[in-house]
Amino acid sequence: MDYRSTVAEGPALSQVNADALLLVLTSEQANTGDAVLDKLVKDAISAEDFALKAGRALYIHRPTGVKAARLVLLAAADAKPKSYKAAVVKGLAQVKELGAAHVAVAAAKGLALSADHAKALVLGVADATYVYRHTKPSAPKAGALKKVTVVSTQADAAGVKAGLTQGQAVAEGVALGRELGNLPGNYCTPTHLGNEAKRLSREFKHIKAEVLDRRAIDKLGMGSFLSVANGSAQPPRFIILRYQGAAASQAPVVLVGKGITFDTGGISIKPGAGMDEMKFDMGGAASVLGTFRAVAELKPKINLVGLIPTCENMPSGSSTKPGDVVTSMSGQTIEVLNTDAEGRLILCDALTYAERLKPAAVVDIATLTGACVVALGNVHSGLFSADEQLAGALLEAGQQSLDTAWRMPLDEEYGESLKSNFADLGNVGGREGGAITAAVFLSKFTKAYRWAHLDIAGSAWKSGGAKGGTGRPVGLLTQFILNQAAAGKDAIAPKPVKAEGKAAAGKTARKVAGKTVRQAPARKAAAKA
Ligand code: BES
Ligand code: MN
Ligand code: ZN
Repeated sequence: MDYRSTVAEGPALSQVNADALLLVLTSEQANTGDAVLDKLVKDAISAEDFALKAGRALYIHRPTGVKAARLVLLAAADAKPKSYKAAVVKGLAQVKELGAAHVAVAAAKGLALSADHAKALVLGVADATYVYRHTKPSAPKAGALKKVTVVSTQADAAGVKAGLTQGQAVAEGVALGRELGNLPGNYCTPTHLGNEAKRLSREFKHIKAEVLDRRAIDKLGMGSFLSVANGSAQPPRFIILRYQGAAASQAPVVLVGKGITFDTGGISIKPGAGMDEMKFDMGGAASVLGTFRAVAELKPKINLVGLIPTCENMPSGSSTKPGDVVTSMSGQTIEVLNTDAEGRLILCDALTYAERLKPAAVVDIATLTGACVVALGNVHSGLFSADEQLAGALLEAGQQSLDTAWRMPLDEEYGESLKSNFADLGNVGGREGGAITAAVFLSKFTKAYRWAHLDIAGSAWKSGGAKGGTGRPVGLLTQFILNQAAAGKDAIAPKPVKAEGKAAAGKTARKVAGKTVRQAPARKAAAKA
């Protein structure tokens, strides 16, 4: 898609050259300053064919005095980017089946367009025109639309231009996340995700990718991660992505993405209905890859590391069994009470690995719990963090990118149910507050740095007729990274290391290596954080 911006005000609006002109109005801003357009709007309203109520749209073919052959009047709830985006998407739906290759989007006088409006527009257009075809080549061809022009005032033009550029980079990242999510489990294997990481590193010179195999993962002592991979014929991978946009001495932001390429539940097997959707259980990993793609294009002055533990969760003769005890890289032992609570088992080792990067902050992203879907549905991602600054920055990035999160609690008390008689931790608590106990489990591995957890179980994909990946939360994460890069001395800095705390939290079990693949015997924990 080709995105342009052009300046036209007042009487020039009806003369904008395009195959279709979308005109966004609100109840407060309904005049354009163009007599032809204003009369069309007035007549349509008095004929009750149109109203200035959010969601209303009116298609007019070959309106007299308008250069574009097609005009769509659109009513937005207000002048905010979110409402503007919704109106544009509605307008695209009106012209979708028509032959319009070039759509121009104008707005009422006084509806000021910011960079965030332009960004929202690009993401809306990209979303509306995405077609999955990798394993369905017969899918309908993408429509006629080739070019979208945003019409703005002279004053708004610079912001619109910048927003279009940023929006396109984010949209590319979202599309990558979405496509990887949609790829079936027999295509999107851990090996495939590793290859995607390497492909990014070839395409963008600021990205480096390292892909560790089972032997190397074992050597790191990631006994918890490997206990999930045990039952599968597909070999696991641990992917390390690096983007360097600042001096090497600057502490990186670390993104950790859950990469379960298919979650059967393992021996604690899931019911059959809807199990196909567990191909989306690598949504966290997909969002990390998508964010790297967006960031590599926008080149913010920041350092970023992505960590992706990826494997399948399968039942077989070599699977981990309920009651088995595994030793995590941190040294903490874990009783696997339910093999379906596997996300936290792969994430905890990646989170321990993150310590060695001396991060400014670590954010993990995971389709972690069905309980989070019950709590928040598919509107907001769940955000868990004890760090006010980090939580605030993520919430704000979500609002700004229209890829929102909602803060959830993280009190220690929720961790009571994670006690085990046979290990330092059990991997599940009770049913109640399941999204929170999962987050508290992860918190036991994150004491050395500032940390936040995003549970995207509800937001990473849609079910039902529109089943498919959403590419979320690439928008939120990219915005967070851009904001951090622009924050200068207000950017989130590494947690100060306390002499005592360092000894307790910083030590990882480097000597667990060896036989962690088939569960090392429970050792005395090196780090009881
Ligand atoms: N990948 C699932 C979480 C999930 C389930 C996401 C449904 C979206 C929809 C995760 O691995 C899982 O199975 N979690 C269990 C945890 C339970 C065993 C404590 C769950 O949520 O049921
Ligand atoms: Mn599971
Ligand atoms: Zn899972």
